[in-house]
Amino acid sequence: MRVLVTGARGMLGWDVCRVFAARHEVIPTHRAELDLTDTAATLAYLRERAPGVIVHCAGYTNVDQAEQEPEAAFAGNVLTTWNVVRAAQDTGSLVVYISTDFVFDGTQERPYHEFDAPRPLGVYAQSKWAGEQLVRSHLQRFFIVRTAGLFGLHGRNFVAAILERAEQGQPLRVVSDQVCCRTYTVDLAEALLELIDCPLFGTYHLTNAGYSSWYDFAREILAAAGLEEVSVQPISSAAWDGPARRPAYSVLDNLCWRLTGHQPLRPCAEALRDYLAARQVPNSH
Ligand SMILES: NC(=O)c1ccc[n+]([C@@H]2O[C@H](COP(=O)([O-])OP(=O)(O)OC[C@H]3O[C@@H](n4cnc5c(N)ncnc54)[C@H](OP(=O)(O)O)[C@@H]3O)[C@@H](O)[C@H]2O)c1
Repeated sequence: MRVLVTGARGMLGWDVCRVFAARHEVIPTHRAELDLTDTAATLAYLRERAPGVIVHCAGYTNVDQAEQEPEAAFAGNVLTTWNVVRAAQDTGSLVVYISTDFVFDGTQERPYHEFDAPRPLGVYAQSKWAGEQLVRSHLQRFFIVRTAGLFGLHGRNFVAAILERAEQGQPLRVVSDQVCCRTYTVDLAEALLELIDCPLFGTYHLTNAGYSSWYDFAREILAAAGLEEVSVQPISSAAWDGPARRPAYSVLDNLCWRLTGHQPLRPCAEALRDYLAARQVPNSH
């Protein structure tokens, strides 16, 4: 099948292209080739290529900056998705929209499943939730995939940031009162490859198994990298001076993935080991 991947030079998009190429004809697109906020250009580009599937990984992903430039965040997450959705109505493509655990407000005391009610706290989260609503209301053939805490070889992420700071001997202060899941982009890409063959369209939570606070995850990363002697100071979200509010507890229960007969993704600790090993290999992937 022909699969068009948006955001192909982003962290997730990169691995989706690589993983899907084993089984499908992949058309990678990135901003320099197609700005997805350009409606006419997006419609023309997608009509010409008529993909069977569009994996829409592109998006505005700077959670804190979104508070300063809400319109840019909505352009990057809503207008882009609106254009993709409109194009898919013409081409009949199945759309996979990547969303986030941040659609939840984090006040619940058990993991969030797909049928819990979203209540996004910040601008980024609101724009991702708005993108979800466009997909859900205009398409019949779609998957909305909420994921969390992505780490992969081809983008800025928490694991890389912790290791860089530790290696440079910089102090580490990490919030200890936000708990969530994490997801290796390679594992998510492989799950998406399986998901597109599932006849049950709808919303899915997809993360590696397990959850922890960012502080505990930082300690886990340092231990796995053999840097356990590096000290980390736990701090509260209030002490962390970021502009965007984040959910205190956004653990995603991968309920629909299990209900539809899929194997849970492996534990995060195993994925982390693979990621760290791949980081050691120049030009890996
Ligand atoms: N990272 C996480 O922890 C996380 C967690 C949950 C959900 N997600 C979601 O997962 C998806 C992938 O995240 P990621 O971390 O891989 O993101 P990323 O590395 O920031 O990649 C996003 C890509 O989208 C491109 N893009 C943005 N606006 C565009 C436009 N108007 N036209 C064309 N391309 C555009 C960006 O290009 P430029 O570089 O040129 O801007 C970038 O290459 C996003 O939808 C994100 O919301 C991420």
